[in-house]
Parts: sequence; C-alpha cells; structure tokens
Amino acid sequence: MDKNKELIEKAVKAINENRETVESDYYRLKYHIMPPTGLLNDPNGFIQFNGEYHLFYQFHPFDTSHGLKYWGHFRSRDFVEWDELPIALAPSNWYETHGCYSGSAVDNDGTLTLIYTGNVKDEEGNRETYQCLATTEDGINFDKHDDNPVMYNQPEGYTRHFRDPKVWKKEDTWYMVIGTQTVKEEGRVLLFKSKDLKEWELIGEVTGSNINELKDFGYMWECPDLFELNCKDVLIACPQGVESQGDLYNNIYQSGYVVGKLDYETGKLEHGEFTELDRGFEFYAPQTTLDEKSRRILIGWMGLPEREEHPTVENKWIHAMTIPRVLELRNDKLMQKPIEELKNMRENHVSYKDIVLNNEEIQLDNISGDVIELSVEFVPQDAQEFGIKVRCSEDNEEETVIYYDRSSQKLVFDRNKSGKGYGGIRRCHIKDKKNLKLNIFIDTSSVEIFVNDGEEVFTGRIYPNKDSLGIKFFAKGGAIKINKIDKWDL
Ligand code: FRU
Repeated sequence: MDKNKELIEKAVKAINENRETVESDYYRLKYHIMPPTGLLNDPNGFIQFNGEYHLFYQFHPFDTSHGLKYWGHFRSRDFVEWDELPIALAPSNWYETHGCYSGSAVDNDGTLTLIYTGNVKDEEGNRETYQCLATTEDGINFDKHDDNPVMYNQPEGYTRHFRDPKVWKKEDTWYMVIGTQTVKEEGRVLLFKSKDLKEWELIGEVTGSNINELKDFGYMWECPDLFELNCKDVLIACPQGVESQGDLYNNIYQSGYVVGKLDYETGKLEHGEFTELDRGFEFYAPQTTLDEKSRRILIGWMGLPEREEHPTVENKWIHAMTIPRVLELRNDKLMQKPIEELKNMRENHVSYKDIVLNNEEIQLDNISGDVIELSVEFVPQDAQEFGIKVRCSEDNEEETVIYYDRSSQKLVFDRNKSGKGYGGIRRCHIKDKKNLKLNIFIDTSSVEIFVNDGEEVFTGRIYPNKDSLGIKFFAKGGAIKINKIDKWDL
C-alpha cells in the first residue's frame, strides 16, 4: 500500500478507537474547534476558498503528545457549524518523515494550495527542514507536489530551525515569511519572494530579536504572519526565550505583533513595540486570513507548547482553537473582536439594566451556565475593585474571577480556584475610564474575555466541576453601577 494511504488509515483507526472516550468528556467544548482525538496545535492553512472557510491544524491523532504531525482539516460556511473533513496531509515522504509542520494556504489561480514545512530528523536527532507544496482539486484530497521540496534547508547564517511559511500575493508576486534563528541563536523572520510558489528568492530579514527595542528578544521566532491593515503592515510572530517582565510575557512562549511599514525591496520592517495579542494563559501560533468581506480574521491555538498536563488527557484529547477574532488597527494597536457570525449562536437572551452594587456580591435570576456569552458594562463609582465570578460552585470552593483593580488600573483574570488543571493569575493595564465593558465567552472548559470592544483579550482553559455554574457580580470598598448585563446561551 502506498505510504500516504497507510499513514492515513492508521490515524483513522486511532481516531475511531478513541472517539467514544473523547466524546464522553464533559470538557469537550461546544463551539470551539478541537481534535477528534489526540493533540491539536497550530492553526494552519486558514483561507476562504470558493466561499467556504478552511482551517487546517497541526494534528497528532494517536495520543496527546507532540508526536508525528499530520494536517487535520475543518471547513465552515459560517464559523458556527464546522465539518470535520478527512486528514489533509500525512507525513509520508522522505522530506517530512518527522512531521508535516505548520504552513499556510493560498488561492493560486483557482487552485487551493498548501505551503508547509517538512520536518526531518536524522538518526543523530539533527533536524532538516524543507518547504513543500500540496494542492487539491476537490478541496478535500491533497496531492503533494512532484517537485517537493521547493526549498531545501535554510539560507546561510541561519539554523535548521526554519519553518512555518506564511504566503500572500501582492500584485503579481508571491511573498513568504518564515520563522527562524541565526547561527548565534537569535530569533528572526525572513522575507522571500517568488513568481510561481516554487522558486523562492530571499529578500532579507523582516525583523527579529536584534533590532529596535527588541534587543535580545528570544532565540527563535515561530509562526510569523505578515499582512496589511489600514495602510500599515502588521507582523505577528511567536518569540521563544523571552524573559517575563512583571505582567508581560508570562507564558512559556509569547505571541504578539509589531506594526510598521514593510520595505518590499529590502524586507525590512520599521516598526514599533512588540505587543502581546492575548493577556491570558493559553494562546499561541495564531494565523490570519483575509476573507471576501475584507475582514482580517485571526484564529489562535488555545494552548501552548510544553503544557500537556490538561485534565482532558485522560480522555485522550488535548487543546482547541480560540473563537475567530476580527482585527482592526486603531492608532497602531490591534483591536480584536469576536467575529459577528457568532451572534447566530445566541439563544435565551436575559437582560438586566441599571444595577447598583455597594460593597456586595450578588447573583441574578437566570444568569448562570457553562456555555454562554455575557456582556457587561460597568460604571465605576467609588469601589476599589469590581468584577464577575464565573463557574462558581455552591460551596464557594470553585470560582474563576475576572475583576478590575482601580488602584493599579489593571484587569485581572484569576484562575487559582477554577478547578482542575493549571492555575495562575494574569493582569493587564487598562485605563480607568468612565466605563468598562467585558464581553465574555464561556465554554465547558474555556473562557475568552474581550475588554472594551477588543482593546485586550484574555484567554484561558479552566476545568471546573460540571455543576459549578454560578455567576456573581461584585463590588468591594465602595459602589459601582452596572449599566447593562446581557446573557445568552450559546
Ligand atoms: C509552533 C510549532 C511550529 C511548528 C509546529 C509543529 O507551535 O512549534 O513552529 O511548525 O508547532 O507542530
């Protein structure tokens, strides 16, 4: 049997064997993309093609470790219903023996084309890296290109940590960014160009850990993405090896962006500061696409490398994607909003207006649940702290707390009492203004908090008891007014 077919059949067998165990898990999410079994990591090949959204992902179907990577495949028309399609890529060729690593998708004159990294390790564990193409006629079955790999190894001066091609077209030329490190182990993003997706020419370094204020900013940059927004260029990348600084960079690896202007002749991006995309716990390796409505849409991996001790492991699956976010640029800052289509999931609307809390904690009729959206507008008065507790147990043992601390002007996401799994606190500066808006998406084992219409986002996985459904609103050290509360079941 041909190797590709053999590898896919092996994976399908593992998926079928484990599916029942996986599906029995209360922590299976209700409106997020998850692997059918095994491990999911980076979103790959995100594209709208012939009207349909395709999202591929790094997939290890056999167990919850980072083993041999395949590309899994989902498709949607509306971001609400996702079809699980057959595996798109299996690591069947000599240039990808240790995994079909991350990459992107383009519409090449009507052909949906994937560009990805073939990962190879030799007997001594030395890595080799190849950039490869695959195409499809039916949008489901993919053929690897006969001329693969289209790029052998890396340019001089860089190591074989050289991967994750993100490709786009500008006028008649294809451009590609790749994440890498110099031989001195400094993270970099490189820009290439091509006329045909096959022959690539290096233009230069976009940026990395050496320039501007980003000195010593990581030993390797993974999963770059570069796009135009409001006449500026935005580079997203994932530096590894950045030390935490107070509230910043507290996850194992970082994911953020810089904004500037790309010089397509030299490859150089003159840019401002690096800003984290998400202030929470599980967020990494996001990928964006531009859709037919000209929206720049981002989906991130709601997980992190080297963090495999999630309680779902006992049910043979791990990790998920974030909900899709639409990006806008305001004063060189990315605003991130939940994609509009998610409003179509809303049911059972409950609404309250003009509630005053004075140094107290309250629960409201019909506001509770584990698969819901909440939208709350606070107007601080003289309270020192105010916020919301979600997924509260009746005995007060469990709660996930989201609050604003006015003395430090910080929004805080505290999951130390969230239940099983990783704990921790994340904080981010938010200016103390006339009001504070929180739009919170809760699923059975996740929380995504959008602050002030997308000024900041906090994402985290939580694993409370399935009966911990309470929601509380509180004010400490004084009063607040809540202008409006809206709650929907999703
Ligand atoms: C990021 C990453 C990528 C790589 C992929 C392998 O999470 O390490 O750099 O292509 O995962 O699964």
